[in-house]
Amino acid sequence: MDKKKIMLIYFSPTATTKTVLEAIAKGTGFDVDSYDITSSQARKQVPQKLDTSLIVFGAPVYSGRVPGVAADFFKQLSAPGIPAVPVVVYGNREYDDALLEMKDICVQCKCRPIAAGAFIGEHSFSTQSAPIAPDRPDSRDLQRAAEFGQTIAGRMAKMGSGRSDAEVSVPGNVPYRKPATPKGVPFIDVTDDCTACGTCAMVCPVDAIDENSGFCTLDDICIHCCACIKACPESARTMKDGPFKNVAAKLNQTCGNRKEPETFFADIQE
Ligand SMILES: Cc1cc2nc3c(=O)[nH]c(=O)nc-3n(C[C@H](O)[C@H](O)[C@H](O)COP(=O)(O)O)c2cc1C
Repeated sequence: MDKKKIMLIYFSPTATTKTVLEAIAKGTGFDVDSYDITSSQARKQVPQKLDTSLIVFGAPVYSGRVPGVAADFFKQLSAPGIPAVPVVVYGNREYDDALLEMKDICVQCKCRPIAAGAFIGEHSFSTQSAPIAPDRPDSRDLQRAAEFGQTIAGRMAKMGSGRSDAEVSVPGNVPYRKPATPKGVPFIDVTDDCTACGTCAMVCPVDAIDENSGFCTLDDICIHCCACIKACPESARTMKDGPFKNVAAKLNQTCGNRKEPETFFADIQE
């Protein structure tokens, strides 16, 4: 029998979601294909046929939801009957309705959500002076992710070829939480340390950085992912004083208790 294949499809501006998905894939022992939809360029092409044994859909949690740009892309996929695993990665506050939304997206793509997971990643707003879940996912998280992958592979072997209609149940509510990230609020300061190297513009998933005006951020387009802050080789980009920095300071105070990954499985109908 051919070796099973796993396809990772993810949006991951600061790479914690990518890291978790790769650990899950390793745990399955399947051959891995990756589709990184973080850049706007990658989201321009929607694959018509997904030739794989298993799909893992991954995204960070933004305001308790799947980020709109990722959700809009995922919803265009169609993979009838293919087992799928929705995964969200959140910054140690809460994942609210994001995992349910991700599972519902899998169903909309006609996949079969057989398992689901919520993992923890360093919060995008985390800084050295106000850390929020720093250095996560850590080795314990990645071990849990690999075990999750291993369990999924074991359950798929038991499922055999017989079609199971059992779907994983996950926490969350409909209507989903209303996203609370305001557009147009000034977000990024660029200091004189900027050397105009262009890294920030390259990593921005929504092309919100204007190369022609000092690499400043276009606040109406920015989704506040912080990829540009984390990628800047000169540390020349920081969060502006204002509402987002205040949220970051509050999260630093309130999200100190370590949360652990949660995994969910559908009943197996052999
Ligand atoms: C705009 C925005 C909103 C966020 N909202 C939440 C949230 O509601 N709950 C939470 O725990 N973390 C939240 N986070 C943190 C991210 O979910 C977390 O840092 C995640 O690991 C980032 O994934 P990535 O590294 O793949 O980009 C938010 C981050 C951003 C940028």
